[in-house]
Amino acid sequence: MLKNMLILGIESTCDETAASIVEDGSKILSNIIFSQTEYHKKYGGVFPELASRCHIDKILPTIEKSLNAANVKIEDIDAIAVAQGPGLIGSLLIGLNTAKTLSLFLNKPLIGINHVEAHLYAAMMDKMEFLTLPALGVVISGGHTMLLKISKIGTYEIISTTIDDAIGECFDKAASILDLPYPGGPEVEKLAKLGDSSKYNFKSGQVKEKPYHFSFSGLKTKILYTVKGQSGKKENLDVIDEIEKKHIAASFQKAAFTDLIEKSLKAARQYNLKAIYFGGGVSNNNKLKEMIEEKNDLNIPIFWPSFGLSLDNAAMIAGLAYHKYTNSFDSRIDIEAKTSFCSF
Ligand code: KG4
Ligand code: ZN
Repeated sequence: MLKNMLILGIESTCDETAASIVEDGSKILSNIIFSQTEYHKKYGGVFPELASRCHIDKILPTIEKSLNAANVKIEDIDAIAVAQGPGLIGSLLIGLNTAKTLSLFLNKPLIGINHVEAHLYAAMMDKMEFLTLPALGVVISGGHTMLLKISKIGTYEIISTTIDDAIGECFDKAASILDLPYPGGPEVEKLAKLGDSSKYNFKSGQVKEKPYHFSFSGLKTKILYTVKGQSGKKENLDVIDEIEKKHIAASFQKAAFTDLIEKSLKAARQYNLKAIYFGGGVSNNNKLKEMIEEKNDLNIPIFWPSFGLSLDNAAMIAGLAYHKYTNSFDSRIDIEAKTSFCSF
């Protein structure tokens, strides 16, 4: 392994503009995140064109800030890593073209990183001394819901995905039905704390003959009908009062997490895995942590991303890039943006 290798990571897949300097894959020297949430709030979700424009404005200042915070000069960077996808095409292109320009200008290798794989690495990077493999990877973000077998960093087998909505997307949609602001996940968690989770018997979907796959669109529709009446639409008036919303939020959260936890533990048992690594924005949820710790009858360690590493960030991009670089890597300037998930 190379020592004292400094990688500049760039992340711009969705609505966070982020840059980070990481040494040797795990020592985070800076982790700067510019969140565009305030800009998108009034649209109730990410407005792609606005996201691209924000990235254009913020990407260079964010990189500069990350270099300053790390006390590193751009010439001292050994490689440039960039999230190649999945994500919004306009947003991806800003990060990718910035990274390519820096790579050419500085004559340093360019490393394209899969954003979903980086989310998995986020829970490992600052705890490498405890790395426990093979493990179950659980990616729960606004765009993805996935169970994977992690044999080693870079070698994965996808066990299951969602057949419709991602779990974070489902939280955002449930929040919108409950009139909570975007992004909805943290708001649902907050409201749920005040409610009784046994008040409504909501359930997440099961997929025929695919016991580990997820389906959350039925759960979302159930919330809609509970709030707006049978076959009600988003724009209809509520048929429940405000007090009921906290019970709906709590029952919804319990239904989504019960399903996620049951499938995760079942998969970990069947595949004989020694630990579970969570990644992605939904892994920020404290109720999820509490619930899985309670149900973990396998008694295997469960790892979570540290503060600043669960939502979109560039430290996970720069950190993972170190492993890609040190494992027979070929720098290419013609890497392309990938809007949807292909493979690792
Ligand atoms: O990983 P991330 O920042 O972006 C994607 O790659 O999608 O995840 C964002 C998602 C959003 O759907 C957001 O509502 C959800 O993570 N989220 C949460 C919480 N914090 C963020 N969901 C539930 N509880 C939370 N505390
Ligand atoms: Zn993400």
